[in-house]
Amino acid sequence: MSDTAREGDAEGSGVSEGASGRTDAHESGAERTAASDESSTDAREPPRLDGWPLVGNTVEFVRDPFGFYDRLESRGDAVRYSVAGDEFCTFFDPDYVEQILVAENERFRKAQILRDSAAGFAEQGLLLTEGEVWRDQRVRIQPAFTPEKIRGYADAMVTYADRLCDNLADGEVVDVGDAMSELTLKILAKSLFDVDVAGRRAVVREATAALNDRGDASGASAFLPDWVPTPKNRRFERAMSDFESMVDDLIAERRTGDESEYDDLLSILLDAEGPDGTTMSEAEVRDQMVTFLFAGHETTSLALTYAWHLLGRNPDELERLRAELDAELGDRRATMADLPDLPYTDRVLKETLRLYPPAYVIFREPTEDVRVGPYHVREGTNLTLPVFEIHRDDRFYDDPDEFRPDRWRDDFESELPDYAYFPFGGGPRHCIGMRFATAELRLVLATMARELAFEPTYDGDPDLTMAATLRPENPLEMRVERR
Ligand code: HEM
Repeated sequence: MSDTAREGDAEGSGVSEGASGRTDAHESGAERTAASDESSTDAREPPRLDGWPLVGNTVEFVRDPFGFYDRLESRGDAVRYSVAGDEFCTFFDPDYVEQILVAENERFRKAQILRDSAAGFAEQGLLLTEGEVWRDQRVRIQPAFTPEKIRGYADAMVTYADRLCDNLADGEVVDVGDAMSELTLKILAKSLFDVDVAGRRAVVREATAALNDRGDASGASAFLPDWVPTPKNRRFERAMSDFESMVDDLIAERRTGDESEYDDLLSILLDAEGPDGTTMSEAEVRDQMVTFLFAGHETTSLALTYAWHLLGRNPDELERLRAELDAELGDRRATMADLPDLPYTDRVLKETLRLYPPAYVIFREPTEDVRVGPYHVREGTNLTLPVFEIHRDDRFYDDPDEFRPDRWRDDFESELPDYAYFPFGGGPRHCIGMRFATAELRLVLATMARELAFEPTYDGDPDLTMAATLRPENPLEMRVERR
């Protein structure tokens, strides 16, 4: 899954190469940039979805967000609408995605709607900062994600996956989402902060649930300001306050030990100096930890959960995966060095992230009036790039709803339009944890699938919720089948 970020360079992930993008992608974007510099008022605005006076399309959106997106898509490659008094525009064309995330990224920032729904969540963390503050943070944090560092995390990834296998009994029914969340949180906390979160998981789980709950698009209160004391907002405040105290304790523990013994993300946060020679403030360190604890475990946990679901539903694909693992690994533990020899494992995960991208929509907002493709788009419009819709577009994927790992054989990916597949975003703000995530997903799946699989106890595919991430609406309970 080395090329799934579409940021340009799987090896880099840094600001500089992200900012310039993969050269071919960037150059084609640059050609378009010339067009977009023409007087943007010559361009027409994207078509607008009809809505009710005052409420616009809010009711329709809240009632059935997935149906709403399908309706948008049927209207064309760019559609405007209004939800809860805010102006939105959704783009379905990969060329526009590339223009917004890569070629003209400096004309866009994270959308207001995202900042509003995340208010009170790690506002000084890498996910939400902008401009020079963001750039400086990204440069400081990047050294925790070099290929060499990721190799160093592989042992924790395999060890914790192995331990989980040992603890699962044949025939036992488990909430796979919960089991994967516990696993990925342990891996993340050990790798990046060298802490054992065993006794602290409840706090992280509650904060994650509260954040998802507040971001849940299907509840009208998602559109109320965060100061309105709805039950969701009160729950969120309580949970975030507990989460932050836990993080403060972790920082204090590190400070009482010999800090020079460590060489991980936490030591970077505490010690790395910025261009002005200063280290991060306490509040900034805390917000970065909250950001990474959330963004770094919830996403990979969902990806693994969906992979188990899909393998449970597709026994032939599970058998092919196991045949590859048996042939390459035998009884050995998987290592990073094995990953290039596990192409089918890679395809299973690529296909999983296509069908169920945990970061299912990317939000941006133009900082000035811009032209996107042929369209004039006004400053401040909330732009949504619907990863999950583009990933299932039959212009790019045959039988798009089918789980077919083998579609990723040979030259399929290089022949796809850029940004028809972008589970890790793109451009300078692509996922900083992409390499961490792809290593973790492959190592965990390779370690566990040799020993067991999960048989869904429910029918069909899971109903999904558009929360902060793309989550199953109900717990995915599956029966452990040991080999
Ligand atoms: C399957 C797993 C993952 C997926 C699908 C995913 C997806 C994404 C996407 C789409 C973005 C870009 C958001 C935007 O442009 O607005 C992003 C950003 C980010 N991700 Fe991930 N991510 C994953 C795993 C991780 C992991 C493991 C970490 C940390 C260890 C992480 C940390 C972050 C951070 C901090 C950002 C913000 C980067 C910035 O703005 O500079 N993610 N992720």
